[in-house]
Amino acid sequence: MAAGTLSLYHCMRKLVLFIASSLDGYIAGGDEQIDWLFTDQDYGYSNFYDSIDTTISGYKTYRLSLSFDSFPYPDKKNYVFTRDSSRSDTELVQFISGDIVQFTRELKQQPGRDIWLVGGGEINTVMLDAGLIDEIVLSIHPVIVGQGIPLFGGAPALRHFTTLDTTTFSTGLVQLKLGATP
Ligand SMILES: NC(=O)c1ccc[n+]([C@@H]2O[C@H](COP(=O)([O-])OP(=O)(O)OC[C@H]3O[C@@H](n4cnc5c(N)ncnc54)[C@H](OP(=O)(O)O)[C@@H]3O)[C@@H](O)[C@H]2O)c1
Repeated sequence: MAAGTLSLYHCMRKLVLFIASSLDGYIAGGDEQIDWLFTDQDYGYSNFYDSIDTTISGYKTYRLSLSFDSFPYPDKKNYVFTRDSSRSDTELVQFISGDIVQFTRELKQQPGRDIWLVGGGEINTVMLDAGLIDEIVLSIHPVIVGQGIPLFGGAPALRHFTTLDTTTFSTGLVQLKLGATP
């Protein structure tokens, strides 16, 4: 491996899917309900948030965040994927249409902290199938919601991950940290 390639490899930022799901694999319930996700503890969120400087989301996830009191990641660089190239950027987000796989590949090669793949399920599969997800931190809530938006939408291709760590919280939430298998 050439020296330049090696140093590029070492400074490559990770794309991390940090996300919560139900026991039956949904990230939102029917009608996009997320009130079953508990937020009574930090569950490692603050440390993770400090480790990233950029977020990427699908438009539907961004659209849901507009119903919050305020935009949740105002101090980060935020990219939102949409096929509608007529959307106008805001002070807080930049819309990206076109080849989002190539966009993300190039983003990972730029210097910076890690990148948070916020979701949702549709975008997760695009990133997974392109082999761009380096780590997954999955907080599994001990609840069955029965229907909704799956963690990976559509039909993702078979892909193995390695379990790096597991944490069980007093509330029953189990957090898995998984690394992509080369
Ligand atoms: N539990 C959690 O931690 C968590 C985290 C994140 C999200 N969520 C939930 O996930 C739900 C949304 O997930 P979702 O799967 O329905 O949608 P999503 O992945 O958030 O967004 C889908 C949208 O992304 C755009 N898109 C998809 N593929 C694209 C491509 N190849 N190029 C450009 N743009 C593309 C399209 O936007 P346009 O329609 O504008 O073209 C598409 O409608 C929400 O309910 C949210 O609450 C939960």
